[in-house]
Amino acid sequence: MKLVSIKVLVVAAAAMLAGGYALADSYELPDETAEFRPGPGVELAQTNCTACHSADYINTQPPRMGASFWEAEVKKMKKTYGAPIEDADLKGIADYLSATY
Ligand code: HEC
Repeated sequence: MKLVSIKVLVVAAAAMLAGGYALADSYELPDETAEFRPGPGVELAQTNCTACHSADYINTQPPRMGASFWEAEVKKMKKTYGAPIEDADLKGIADYLSATY
C-alpha cells in the first residue's frame, strides 16, 4: 500500500516538472532590432560579434574611440569571454569597428 502511494507521488511530481518545462517553452523574446553600421568588414562583425550579445553593445560605445580601443575590445571578447574568433579575423574586425564607429 505504502509503495503504491510513493509511486503515485513520483508520477505526479514528474507530471508537474513536465508541465513546468512546457510553460517555459511559451516565453517570447523581443525581436532583435540592433544592427551593425554598414561599412567594409561589417560581415566579419556580424559573423563574430552576435553570438553572445546584440550589436547594441557596440552601438552604445562612445564614438571615435580609435583603433587601440577596438583592438583591445575584440581581443578581450576572445581571450576573456571565449569568443570563437579566428586570429586572422581579429584585425579585420577591429579595423571595421574603428573606421565605422
Ligand atoms: C563569447 C561571447 C561573446 C562574443 C562572441 C562577443 N562578446 Fe562582446 N561581450 C561579451 C560579454 C560577456 C560582455 C560583458 C557583458 C557585461 O558586462 O554585461 C561583452 C561586452 C562587450 C562590449 C561592452 C564593453 C565591454 O567591454 O564590456 C563590447 C563593446 C563588446 N562586447 C564588443 C564585442 C565585439 C566587437 C565582438 C566581436 C568581435 C564581441 N563583443 C563578441 C561576450 C561576447
